[in-house]
Amino acid sequence: METPILCVKDILKVYSGVTVLHDVSLEIYPGEIHSLCGENGAGKSTLIKILTGAISPTKGKIFIDGKEYDRLVPRQAMELGIAVIYQEFSLVPFLTVAENIFYGRELSKFGICNSKEMIARSKELCEEMGIEIDVNARVMDLGIAYQQIVEILKAVSLNSRIIIMDEPTAPLTVHETAIFFRLVRKLKEKGTTIIFISHRLEEVFEICDRVTVLCDGRKVLTCLTSDIDRSHLVSAMVGREISNQYPISSGAISEKDVILEVSNVSNKNVHDISFKLHKGEILGFGGLIGAGRTEVMRILFGVDTYTSGKIIFKGKEYHPKSTKQALDSGIGLIPEDRKHQGIVPCLPVVNNICLSVERKLASNGFLFGGREQKLAENSIKELNIKVSRPTQLIRTLSGGNQQKAVLAKILATNCDVLIFDEPTRGIDVGAKQEIYELMVRLANEGKSIIMVSSEMPELIGMSDRIIVMGSRTIQGELKRGEYSQELVLDIASR
Ligand SMILES: Nc1ncnc2c1ncn2[C@@H]1O[C@H](COP(=O)(O)OP(=O)(O)OP(=O)(O)O)[C@@H](O)[C@H]1O
Ligand SMILES: [Mg+2]
Repeated sequence: METPILCVKDILKVYSGVTVLHDVSLEIYPGEIHSLCGENGAGKSTLIKILTGAISPTKGKIFIDGKEYDRLVPRQAMELGIAVIYQEFSLVPFLTVAENIFYGRELSKFGICNSKEMIARSKELCEEMGIEIDVNARVMDLGIAYQQIVEILKAVSLNSRIIIMDEPTAPLTVHETAIFFRLVRKLKEKGTTIIFISHRLEEVFEICDRVTVLCDGRKVLTCLTSDIDRSHLVSAMVGREISNQYPISSGAISEKDVILEVSNVSNKNVHDISFKLHKGEILGFGGLIGAGRTEVMRILFGVDTYTSGKIIFKGKEYHPKSTKQALDSGIGLIPEDRKHQGIVPCLPVVNNICLSVERKLASNGFLFGGREQKLAENSIKELNIKVSRPTQLIRTLSGGNQQKAVLAKILATNCDVLIFDEPTRGIDVGAKQEIYELMVRLANEGKSIIMVSSEMPELIGMSDRIIVMGSRTIQGELKRGEYSQELVLDIASR
């Protein structure tokens, strides 16, 4: 049999007494696309960090081309041809595509940066990979899918033989994912080995040859993707069956119970936005990325102001000047970009959850540690957030569990209107279902929910009504029963 290009044997990883990887062994063969699947906190990113030399295993061995290592350091991993693409980009936004591809090793002649050569080499690379992109464009002006593609081009230009991708498609729409996958297939044709992580299981079946499932830090399965179906894969990951059904709210929405009314609102980002939100309603916002949905939410949450139009919230004119004012009035937002807007990385989980309610808890000017603790512990339990202890620093939680902590933080404020911007991005299949059930429960309790989602099935499955945005304004509105995936996409691209 062929020698694995990469192999780990009995990898153990312990963080301050907590074992997060238990004797994991895995063989990856040259040229395969291998998926790592598992719930939030299963240990996927940890295993990857060991392979890139970002962290060392507590015990175990790593083999590259059959050669044994106790641990790798990042430089060594790079020299061995291992590259990693994280969900969060490492690109420099104001540099061009070509400059980013060669960043840190600018081609120079006599100490002068040779940008001509850099541009020529970047063009060659794009051609070879079948990518049409302006190598002189600044990365910040590119769509998110193309930013991801630049990350890959960078890895290819480093002659990487093994490219590890940790949730690369999480911020991409279906269409952008298709563009991204074209490049991944091209890499495979060239013989590159790929390790791919995604919580969207249809992607695993579409692009991967084999799949390994981690559950609570243990390997439970490795097999060909053609030898397993979705429901078996899910039960291997979650240890139980997950229904594919969306929970339905009680549906008792009165047209008279308008809690929020937005009329002809405009600012520099969006124009002429009008819609109503009712008590107990889940209102979906659909549209393509860049349609202006997040910009509308930023107005409601007091991040941006509006320059014309009117908003009435709970019968009163509403013109929030800050997010604090929005929260105090009763509108909360769970942001799509949790890393930059959602969390304070260096604080413990408890403090992060309590951040938005600290003032309310402090009845006589100072904080009650016990109450804070209790509140946080309740939501950790309710949302099933995987922590070793509530004082664990939030940045050490897995990606999906950080997202849940942000959710807990907003729920703790007891807002009347909750805005969920891409609520299940990076969330595993089981936890997704829990978040959907939570949303329906909140709606049944009389809260109003606005959900921005680019996941079409989620948008259609969860919303009582869907507002479709395109070109920075509202293009249409659809009632439950009226909408389909095609119709939403059709209206969105008008
Ligand atoms: N520095 C650290 N200190 C303590 N615990 C940590 C640290 N880093 C990771 N962990 C823990 O290791 C476990 C595995 O995390 P990991 O990030 O590998 O999960 P994951 O499978 O990538 O999940 P997700 O799908 O949510 O990204 C988690 O329970 C996490 O809290
Ligand atoms: Mg992860």
